[in-house]
Amino acid sequence: MRAPDVAYLPEQPAHDPTIEDINAEAFGPGRFARAAYRIREDGPHEASLSFVATIEGDVVASVRMTRIAAGRGRGLLLGPLAVRPAWKNLGIGRRLVAIALEAARKAGHGVVVLVGDEPYYGPLGFRRVPRGQIEMPRPVDPDRLLAAELVPGAVAALGGVMQHAGAKDKAPVEAEVATIAAGRMIEAT
Ligand SMILES: CC(C)(COP(=O)(O)OP(=O)(O)OC[C@H]1O[C@@H](n2cnc3c(N)ncnc32)[C@H](O)[C@@H]1OP(=O)(O)O)[C@@H](O)C(=O)NCCC(=O)NCCS
Repeated sequence: MRAPDVAYLPEQPAHDPTIEDINAEAFGPGRFARAAYRIREDGPHEASLSFVATIEGDVVASVRMTRIAAGRGRGLLLGPLAVRPAWKNLGIGRRLVAIALEAARKAGHGVVVLVGDEPYYGPLGFRRVPRGQIEMPRPVDPDRLLAAELVPGAVAALGGVMQHAGAKDKAPVEAEVATIAAGRMIEAT
């Protein structure tokens, strides 16, 4: 099959229904129970740092970024990242992550965090966050809590419970915080 022409574009409001459909297809109803979703539901994502891939005008993949706070640290949470099954393994996911990281760097953000598979994200610049440094509002496998440091020291500044940056003045989510226990749950961003 001839390689398709893929365009990478900043996300627009008109993309919303298709992005929702792509995420539903990729993650199913279980996505609403994930720790990263719990953070994202407390506020909007950063549309200016979120991107879609299109083929012949159709959105076939999406990556979103959301501003987060953890202790005195600030950064971005990457995800969801999803590619339509028909267009997997063409490098679209990797390219979307690279574009989102570069946009974050240009916008002056110090760190991008995600919950995902190290074998996939490691080559894209993500490393495991030291165990116990950050708590997520729902349990995650600590081996899957990864960060790409864009400004030296930005990972070390993250600590405590990670929240949506816009939710940090709201009631604390301590009641929902569960101890991070190795292997307790597998979560995709
Ligand atoms: C994961 C996903 C985003 C990858 O997108 P993609 O465009 O197909 O990936 P790319 O073409 O950039 O990369 C493909 C490579 O990554 C590998 N890969 C895909 N998913 C992987 C994973 N979870 N862990 C490790 N490697 C993975 C593929 O085997 C392939 O390897 P190769 O280059 O050696 O053949 C896509 O498969 C998807 O939407 N999955 C469902 C949702 C999901 O799991 N999102 C990510 C959460 S961690």
